[in-house]
Amino acid sequence: MSEKNPFRIMTKEHYPIIEVASALSALKITHDIDPETLKKAVEFIKRFADQYHHEKEEKIVFEQAKKKKIETSPIEAMEREHETTRERIREAVESLENGDLKNAIANLREWGNFIPDHIDRENHSLFPGLDGIFDYDEKEEFLREFERIDDELGGYDNMERMADEIFVEILKKTGNAIVEARSIPREDRDEFVVRLSKLMPENATLTVMYDEKSEELERMLEEFEIEEIKKKGVYAFRIKKKKNK
Ligand SMILES: [Fe+2]
Ligand SMILES: [Fe+2]
Repeated sequence: MSEKNPFRIMTKEHYPIIEVASALSALKITHDIDPETLKKAVEFIKRFADQYHHEKEEKIVFEQAKKKKIETSPIEAMEREHETTRERIREAVESLENGDLKNAIANLREWGNFIPDHIDRENHSLFPGLDGIFDYDEKEEFLREFERIDDELGGYDNMERMADEIFVEILKKTGNAIVEARSIPREDRDEFVVRLSKLMPENATLTVMYDEKSEELERMLEEFEIEEIKKKGVYAFRIKKKKNK
């Protein structure tokens, strides 16, 4: 898929979302987390995961897809799930306003646990299917609409920069992130894990869910310690920076 394909663009937008979800899903009430960091995570989710990204899905691509003669239930399922994520964020916002940190963390963690599965289905099932029902001109029109949203809300680089800040800030406190790498397409997966590994602060650990052992990835992570862990039905491993480096 070319980088100029709207489905490729939406797939890549999932990566910073998975990045933030990885940090949030390891968050516990016992962590001494700054409420400002949680507010930043909420802001990221509202602005980039919801407005910037879900708007492209719902208001542009899904809306046009529903006009075609296709089975629309997978699209409707995704829209319902967007609503579920909005509900979690509404609760998190309310809790933060009331100073109820415990409930805010619970809702953000739930969002972090929920979103990778949603993204997994879009990346691996819905998007490849929808890609085939639109012709060149329709995709060009999507790209024009996407550019308008980029101009309005600040583009992918801003999205990624904000995700990186949140990821590092949270990991400084929690020391761990749970990365559901299986939701990232195979061709980008190793690079994604390497990117997060390099980004994590000293002494932090990444717990990565993968599909199978990857020697290529291990080579790319030479400067890290990798420890395989037993997880039911999943190939998982832990990454941390080697000491004395
Ligand atoms: Fe979605
Ligand atoms: Fe999505």
